[in-house]
Amino acid sequence: MACVTPISVLLILSFFQCKTLFSTILASGQEDIKDALRLHNILWATKNDSRVILSWSNNLTKEETRKYTVKYILIYKFFNTTKEKKERLEEKEKIIHLKLHSGFNAKVKTQLFAKETEDIIKESDWTEFTYKAPAVYIQNLSCIIYNISFFNCTWNIKAEAPEDIQIFTSYRHVGKVFACQKYIKNARKKNIGCNMREIHFQPSRKINLNITVRNLKNGSRGLSYYKAFTPQTIEKLNPPINISVSLENRSIKIHWKPPPTIGSARKKCFLYQVKITDHKIVNVTAENYKYSFHKPEKKCAAQVRVKKEICIANKIWSEWSEPVFIHDEKTVDILLLSLSLLCSLVFLGGLMIYACRRYRCLEVITTNKNKKRYAQHL
Ligand SMILES: *[C@@H]1O[C@H](CO)[C@@H](O)[C@H](O)[C@H]1NC(C)=O
Ligand SMILES: *[C@@H]1O[C@H](CO)[C@@H](O)[C@H](O)[C@H]1NC(C)=O
Ligand SMILES: *[C@@H]1O[C@H](CO)[C@@H](O)[C@H](O)[C@H]1NC(C)=O
Ligand SMILES: *[C@@H]1O[C@H](CO)[C@@H](O)[C@H](O)[C@H]1NC(C)=O
Ligand SMILES: *[C@@H]1O[C@H](CO)[C@@H](O)[C@H](O)[C@H]1NC(C)=O
Ligand SMILES: *[C@@H]1O[C@H](CO)[C@@H](O)[C@H](O)[C@H]1NC(C)=O
Ligand SMILES: *[C@@H]1O[C@H](CO)[C@@H](O)[C@H](O)[C@H]1NC(C)=O
Ligand SMILES: *[C@@H]1O[C@H](CO)[C@@H](O)[C@H](O)[C@H]1NC(C)=O
Ligand SMILES: *[C@@H]1O[C@H](CO)[C@@H](O)[C@H](O)[C@H]1NC(C)=O
Ligand SMILES: *[C@@H]1O[C@H](CO)[C@@H](O)[C@H](O)[C@H]1NC(C)=O
Ligand SMILES: *[C@@H]1O[C@H](CO)[C@@H](O)[C@H](O)[C@H]1NC(C)=O
Repeated sequence: MACVTPISVLLILSFFQCKTLFSTILASGQEDIKDALRLHNILWATKNDSRVILSWSNNLTKEETRKYTVKYILIYKFFNTTKEKKERLEEKEKIIHLKLHSGFNAKVKTQLFAKETEDIIKESDWTEFTYKAPAVYIQNLSCIIYNISFFNCTWNIKAEAPEDIQIFTSYRHVGKVFACQKYIKNARKKNIGCNMREIHFQPSRKINLNITVRNLKNGSRGLSYYKAFTPQTIEKLNPPINISVSLENRSIKIHWKPPPTIGSARKKCFLYQVKITDHKIVNVTAENYKYSFHKPEKKCAAQVRVKKEICIANKIWSEWSEPVFIHDEKTVDILLLSLSLLCSLVFLGGLMIYACRRYRCLEVITTNKNKKRYAQHL
């Protein structure tokens, strides 16, 4: 018996090595081997505030652990999401940040590799695990940094949330904790967002948002959820500044400067888009754009917007700049145009009022004069 076992193990091992070299299609054969090799996982989870520590173990013998490289494949997916996360780990645990998710499905399998060749020796079946957190009553949390020092966060309260909850938020940045300065409330007086200003952001240091849902009725501590943001990735830039238009021969050249930013202001970080009336939006990396026209167009407006692209992944475009109008031969700023329009309107209005008043005034004066004359007569 003692000498039979090693032989059979060897046979099985060599079979497995061959098999994995080719493919894993031999599913039925694999099962037998798994049984014979007695790989069995156990999964459990412990909650630590908003983090869940998912742990697992197996019944590999000490000898096997010493002899082979042991790796684990972890696949997990939060409830109501579509993206699976897959990781190959050597540790027997994984910290999962729940954020605003109400749980996840996970599965783990163990793989043994030969130490020298790194060939797969054997692997276990998947062991599945479901973690269900207490109900989360908020969703669609999003935060944005704008105008250098302003910070907005908004969220929705789910319809199934109890009537007595209220939501509080604070954030930690560079080691300090700040409470929300001004809550945005919905019609039912629930906090659904927060506006903060005069914040000095360290672009590369995380902002850790803490959202706490408290039940006002029973005065419990409430449940806290956390989400971390890298400031630069949620910055909405102001529109480009100092936009000017010049006419060169038969082309228009638009110039601009990047807006101020909390992060890197290197030229190559910015991506611009130029929009000229009735034309396709174009992407531009330079601080100017030359637009040739063949037929002089009557009038068109140019606008520019910007975001960070190369240095940092940021999806948020700035607003479009105020349109700069391009006429045949000269350019007129819309501000000037509307200002002059307003001025003339005000002027006209004033004139009318003045005329009216004056007319009535004259009337009053004449009647007064008549009265005076009448009085003098007496
Ligand atoms: C590992 O677990 C499986 C399933 O529970 C069991 O059949 C096998 O005997 C165990 N092996 C060892 C070495 O404990
Ligand atoms: C939670 O995690 C913190 C930090 O890692 C640790 O100090 C604490 O002991 C953990 N608590 C529990 C209950 O595991
Ligand atoms: C989210 O997932 C959970 C668990 O899979 C399910 O019970 C629930 O109905 C889902 N909710 C929505 C809104 O899809
Ligand atoms: C909020 O999130 C839910 C589910 O996550 C989604 O179905 C819905 O469209 C989102 N609403 C908004 C306004 O983004
Ligand atoms: C942007 O910030 C500047 C300086 O902090 C302030 O004067 C200006 O009003 C802000 N603009 C907006 C639209 O909030
Ligand atoms: C931030 O919130 C304020 C007040 O709710 C709103 O006026 C402003 O448009 C928001 N800014 C951004 C960039 O979302
Ligand atoms: C998050 O905020 C809640 C409510 O203010 C607080 O009780 C909790 O300790 C905060 N969490 C952290 C990690 O600071
Ligand atoms: C407070 O009420 C909520 C639901 O209304 C319940 O889930 C929670 O356990 C209660 N907490 C305490 C400390 O009683
Ligand atoms: C923008 O224009 C103003 C006024 O013409 C000037 O003072 C400022 O230096 C310009 N800014 C940049 C970045 O060129
Ligand atoms: C205008 O066009 C002429 C000839 O096509 C060229 O020589 C000249 O350099 C151009 N001027 C500018 C400012 O581009
Ligand atoms: C312009 O850049 C954006 C952002 O990178 C990209 O999604 C879009 O496809 C680009 N458009 C063109 C016409 O290249």
